[in-house]
Order: sequence, then C-alpha cells, then structure tokens
Amino acid sequence: MNTKSGNKIELTFLFLLFITTSIFAQKFENLALTPPMGWSSWNKFGVKINEKIIREVADAMVSSGMKDAGYEYVNIDDCWQISRDKNGNILADSINFPSGMKALADYVHSKGLKFGLYSCAGSLTCAGRPGSRGFEYQDARTYASWGVDFLKYDFCNIDAQNAEGAYKIMRDALFTAKRPVVFEICEWGGSQPWTWASKVGNLWRTTGDIMDCWDCEFNWGGSGVMQIADKNSKLAKYAKPGSWNHPDMLEVGNKNLTDNEARSHFTLWCMMAAPLIAGNDLRSMSQVTKEILNNKEIIALDQDSLGKQGFRWIVFNGIEVWAKPLRNDEIALCFLNRSDVVKTIEFDWKENPTIWNGNADGSPIKVSDKLNIRDLWLKKAIGTTKENLKKTIQPHDVLVIRLTK
Ligand code: GLA
Repeated sequence: MNTKSGNKIELTFLFLLFITTSIFAQKFENLALTPPMGWSSWNKFGVKINEKIIREVADAMVSSGMKDAGYEYVNIDDCWQISRDKNGNILADSINFPSGMKALADYVHSKGLKFGLYSCAGSLTCAGRPGSRGFEYQDARTYASWGVDFLKYDFCNIDAQNAEGAYKIMRDALFTAKRPVVFEICEWGGSQPWTWASKVGNLWRTTGDIMDCWDCEFNWGGSGVMQIADKNSKLAKYAKPGSWNHPDMLEVGNKNLTDNEARSHFTLWCMMAAPLIAGNDLRSMSQVTKEILNNKEIIALDQDSLGKQGFRWIVFNGIEVWAKPLRNDEIALCFLNRSDVVKTIEFDWKENPTIWNGNADGSPIKVSDKLNIRDLWLKKAIGTTKENLKKTIQPHDVLVIRLTK
C-alpha cells in the first residue's frame, strides 16, 4: 500500500470515528429518575473547604439518618482545584486536599455514598479557579479516573460562549469518558435551559444563587427562598424523570431562616420535585433541622416516581395552595401562609371540587370524593374530604397534606 492510499484510509477512519462519536455522544440514560438528593459545600462553607470537612460531612450524612432518608451525593463546590500541571491535568489544592480527589472519592464511596465535583464552562470558575474550557475531554477523563458521580458545571468567565453548545461539549466529554455522571447545568436560567437542557443534563439551575433569607432580593441576582420559589414555580411543565428544574441548594439549617421558614422552604422544594441538595453543616445540626431534612413523608413527595413538579393551584383567604400530583392518582397539597400573621382556615372541598392531576389525559382528581387526609408534618391522619378542613397556620409556615383513597 502506498503512502497516499494509507493516508486516505487513515483520514476516512478518523472521519468515521468523528461521525460515530458525534452521533453516539449523548446524556447517560437512567440517571436521576427522581430528583438527586445529597449535600454540597457552597451555601455553608463557600471558598473555605478542605478534605477534613468533606470526610466529616460524609460521616454525618450516615450518622444523622440522612443516608437512610435517601441522600447520597457528597458534592464539593468551587475551590477544590488550584492549577494545571504541564500536561494540562487539573490539580486539586494540595494544601486543603493533601490526599487528593481519588482518595476522597474512595472514602465517600466506602460509606455507601456518591461523590460530586464542580467545574465551569469558562476559562476560570466563578471564584477564579481554573475552569474546563478547552480541557473538557481531559477533565472528564480525570473525573472518571477519580470516581466522580456528579458534576456541577458553572458558567462564569465565558466570553462569547453559547450556553447550549458549551454544555453539550461537557456532556459529550463525560459520555466519552464512560463513567455515568449526573450532570448539573448551572447557568442560572439565562438561556432558558428548560427549553434545551433535558437532552444535555439531569438538572438545570433556573435562577440566580439562593441566599439564606426568606424574602429578599439582591441586585446582583441572589435572592431569598420565596423569590426563588416564585421563579421556579412557573417552569413546572419542563420537569420530568431524568430532567429537573433546580431552584438551587437548600438553606435549611443555616443561620437566618426560622424553623417555620425552613420547614416551608423544604416543603416547597419537595412540592416542586427539586433536587434536594442540603447546604448546611451536617456535623452540627439542631434536632429541628434533622427532623426537617429527614421527614420521609415530605421527601416521598419529592421522590414520587410520577415525576411531576407541583404548582400553585389556588389562593384561598391569602393562603397559597400548592398541588403536586402523585402516582396512583394521589395528590399532595401544601397550604402556605406567606403573611406575617397567624391564619385560621376552613377549607370547603365542595367549593374546590377538582384538581387537574397532571396526567397526560388531563383528567382531574375529585377532591370532593371522600378522600383520606394525612398531615405530613404532624405525621398523622386528620379526617377526610367529606368535612371542611379546619386548621391554624403560623406565619411563614405550611400545612402539608396527602390525599389518598
Ligand atoms: C456560582 C453558582 C453557585 C456557586 C458559586 C461558586 O455563583 O451559582 O452555586 O457554585 O458559583 O463560585
């Protein structure tokens, strides 16, 4: 064979390889069929993280009962990385992570948990550490060799990059590296990821960063629990198994929310089928925080296999009533008192006899039939829909019920 035809065969082979890789590069199937549950370092620790904290948090996820309740990902956010070596390999900060990422991932896995990391589509991360731009395939291979199960991919320092294109490069890189990774798209809603991201990732941030406050808004885009819930609630129709709207990590257990507010925050995230990524210090939780994060009946709403995001159904006497369709034609209702005063409600089911059930056929659920009512924070049965529902709801608190046949 002469050199010319040899070159031709080689070129044809490379061309075919390129075509096949492009056609078959895709999102991993069967991941995050219910919203991912875990913990991430950012909300509590910000840039000040190290391997001791991560190991202790993994221990606490087990000892606090959170693992039993369904939490599995231990995710390190920005600032684990420091530079690249002369071959372009990403390097972990050797002062704060002296054992390296592989050892840390092994430790997290030894607890029966999964390990997550953070990077950025731009040249630098949001906190100024090296990003993955131009190193996507190399970084994906490195993550696979370390045992990474979850990647949050941010969108700072991006010049003129197109969001969808940038996220597809990392999706393809992860797929080519062959280790299944839950892929979080974090571009804060700017390019309306809900319209394209279900083919690219498993969860996408719908808003700017959450702040540790009930009702607040900052001019740089950070906002409180209520503002984030309002924005995310409009996107219910885009959520489905494997593809979730992400209204950001939880602030439950951090310093500013009252117990009522933390309970409402957690409930609304579950009603919206949001990823449940705790953002507090799991090593030093109060009993109330533990009870909120570990309420299995509330978590069951989030993790319901129907995979429907709940929505604001009606506003009644100044109380917002949110509804979430569940499997077996069950439904959860959350009565949210956003006001600063105690409200006493008497809810007449006959006046609001049906709720759209979110199924493809659009058939409504009749709540005026005699359904059983269970209070999911009191954890007990409280009657049926034959009688009016009478309750007092504290300011910024919720009443959450599940209707069953
Ligand atoms: C962005 C993200 C946050 C966090 C920081 C880290 O602001 O939205 O969730 O990851 O970057 O720098």
